[in-house]
Amino acid sequence: MSLSAENTPDNSTINHSTEPLLKVENLTVRFSVNRKGLFGKKEYLYAVDDVSFDLNRGETVGIVGESGSGKTTTALAIARLVNAHAGKVTMHGEDFLALEDEDLRRARARCQFIFQDPYSSLNPRLRAEAVVREPLDSLTTLSEAEKRESIDRLFAEVGLRHEQQRLFPHQFSGGQRQRIGIARALATRPDLIICDEPVSALDVAVQAQILNLLRKLQHDFGLTYLFISHDLGVVQHMCDKIAVMYMGKIVEYGDRLSLFNNPQHPYTKALLSAVPAVYRRRGESTERISIPGDPPDQITKPAGCRFANRCPMSMDVCTEDQPELTNITGSHRAACFLTQ
Ligand SMILES: Nc1ncnc2c1ncn2[C@@H]1O[C@H](COP(=O)(O)OP(=O)(O)O)[C@@H](O)[C@H]1O
Ligand SMILES: [Mg+2]
Repeated sequence: MSLSAENTPDNSTINHSTEPLLKVENLTVRFSVNRKGLFGKKEYLYAVDDVSFDLNRGETVGIVGESGSGKTTTALAIARLVNAHAGKVTMHGEDFLALEDEDLRRARARCQFIFQDPYSSLNPRLRAEAVVREPLDSLTTLSEAEKRESIDRLFAEVGLRHEQQRLFPHQFSGGQRQRIGIARALATRPDLIICDEPVSALDVAVQAQILNLLRKLQHDFGLTYLFISHDLGVVQHMCDKIAVMYMGKIVEYGDRLSLFNNPQHPYTKALLSAVPAVYRRRGESTERISIPGDPPDQITKPAGCRFANRCPMSMDVCTEDQPELTNITGSHRAACFLTQ
């Protein structure tokens, strides 16, 4: 994928209101595990641990991190597709986790999801037209004629031909299937779309097409994206702000330029060093930092920083205390004792 100045996000044409569209506060999700602790106490894996961030209108916030760091669980909890153990999600000024019935249905119509795998996320028995129609049936009160018109428009907006509405998912390529997933996500005219690794299952050439489509739709409809990826190149292409997750925690958060040019957390530095040289500043070292060791057991939460056992800069305090996410400059924050 090529990166050029004209490809970088530009939201100057989008109206930003001061209130964040999405506010995530101290979100925690835990899963009970089939293992009994001392004295038979039930044990939990904290997949998302005290995560907080804001998402402003028209903005794209990325969550990046290795597999298993809790990105998907964060997204699922925000969308109420898994239960949060603690924390608060405010969407459009409403306490989203507390909404019920009609209020929840109305709120859901405004927040939609694009899944990673266009091969398994579409019902194979439904024609493309029916896949896109589903959210219109379940979340809106449009008339049949309005739904038809909507579906026709959605297919055109995502670059699919009218006659393709009659086909089944297996008759499409991966990229085309993701276009169906995008049309479905757009159907209720949401303002927030959560994209969980939307291009990870696609060939590189197709990735760029889908990313460019997402950017165009964002521009045309003033969409706000929460954009999850393990691929820093993709995140750099798409995101205004980036949260770096490690073992359920945000370890660094900043705007794109600040985070890529001036990473603070040793984990972020290690991640960036694994990205091809094209993404680096001129004159920067291209030596790869390998991250020795394995992540610690996520069930027995360590007392200190979760990255301490793999961190080349680890100090005594790092295994004793939990570093807080603290401000470095502007909105750039890192959870590391070295920066505090
Ligand atoms: N339904 C579940 N039950 C138990 N553990 C889960 C479940 N879903 C995710 N996990 C665990 O939570 C952690 C975070 O997973 P996930 O959010 O999928 O990470 P990512 O999307 O960053 O790869 C992992 O250790 C994963 O094994
Ligand atoms: Mg995931």
